[in-house]
Amino acid sequence: MRRVLLTGATGFVGRAVHPALAGAGWNVLCATRRPEEAQARDPKRIWVRLDTERTETLGPALSGVDAVVYLIHSMGQSGDFEAKERAAAEGFRGAAEAAGVRRIVYLGGVAPAGEASKHLRSRMTTGEVLRGGRVSVIELRAAMIIGAGGLSWQMVRDLSARLPLMILPNWLQNASQPVALDDVVAAIVHAVSAPHDGSGVFDVPGPETLTGEQILKRIGKLLGIRPYTIRVPVLTPRLSSYWLKLVTRADFSVAQELVEGLTSDLVARGIEYWALMPGYQRTPFDDAALAALHDEHEGLSGGTRALEWLLQRASRKFV
Ligand SMILES: NC(=O)c1ccc[n+]([C@@H]2O[C@H](COP(=O)([O-])OP(=O)(O)OC[C@H]3O[C@@H](n4cnc5c(N)ncnc54)[C@H](OP(=O)(O)O)[C@@H]3O)[C@@H](O)[C@H]2O)c1
Repeated sequence: MRRVLLTGATGFVGRAVHPALAGAGWNVLCATRRPEEAQARDPKRIWVRLDTERTETLGPALSGVDAVVYLIHSMGQSGDFEAKERAAAEGFRGAAEAAGVRRIVYLGGVAPAGEASKHLRSRMTTGEVLRGGRVSVIELRAAMIIGAGGLSWQMVRDLSARLPLMILPNWLQNASQPVALDDVVAAIVHAVSAPHDGSGVFDVPGPETLTGEQILKRIGKLLGIRPYTIRVPVLTPRLSSYWLKLVTRADFSVAQELVEGLTSDLVARGIEYWALMPGYQRTPFDDAALAALHDEHEGLSGGTRALEWLLQRASRKFV
């Protein structure tokens, strides 16, 4: 059975990717810095130690691996996350080459129309570094991923749910294409074995282009809330981060990075990646948001619709 190393397996996206990869017939090895803790929490999965800051852990984790899903980031950790992420990608690229890995799928962020924030710049640098080696890399670029447990999602959900009076700074007029966690999971699983020569970069946008204000209002509507809104053109990203810290559960440094990333449009260059997945229908924003709200309520993580689609596709193939 083909073996895939799922890095970031304990994270928001990695948790949802696991059942879809296993459902698609992969032998999934889950990577984490703390395998003992992960094993105790989730004994059904196979865990392996991998810490990009401890390069001696890379070779053993990658041994016998055909493909890798790279979901590691260092935002919110102590120290310079940009330098850490670059060093992590450089070390990983070399170790993957040495282990004979055939494909790396990396999930990054959409390139902004204007100047990139430190966070988005670092996401792009990670992709460039990984693509600079001999292993075929498919880089998928997503804007905010809608799903229970996502940091950006949690921020907008808290803003929508907690405020009777909604403050609308200028940067909330910028447009993006939020995408459902299910759709990102399906895109990742497809990329792991998709025929592709060399490396490539693809945007994976959601089906609707929405401003930040529209996103907040749409979630508010789903929650049955109609807040008063007030525009404050002078609220800088830095002040906005304090406001977010006050209203949401977001960590200040993470909130600051995410707001900086929203100060220009985050719109996909193209949608051709979805055409590579015939029959796949992206999830409308409201359906994705409702599913995330439901999963938060039930304490679940997403990814089930992607699994359904993958299984349907597999059964069609073998009829
Ligand atoms: N969330 C979104 O809305 C969104 C949108 C676009 C793109 N993305 C991209 O998707 C990827 C995954 O995001 P996420 O939201 O799932 O992140 P997350 O929930 O914060 O998870 C991050 C993962 O990174 C791992 N990690 C951190 N430092 C590590 C190190 N030194 N060595 C090995 N593993 C390490 C952690 O594993 P352990 O703690 O178990 O070691 C954790 O599982 C990122 O590249 C992110 O930029 C996310």
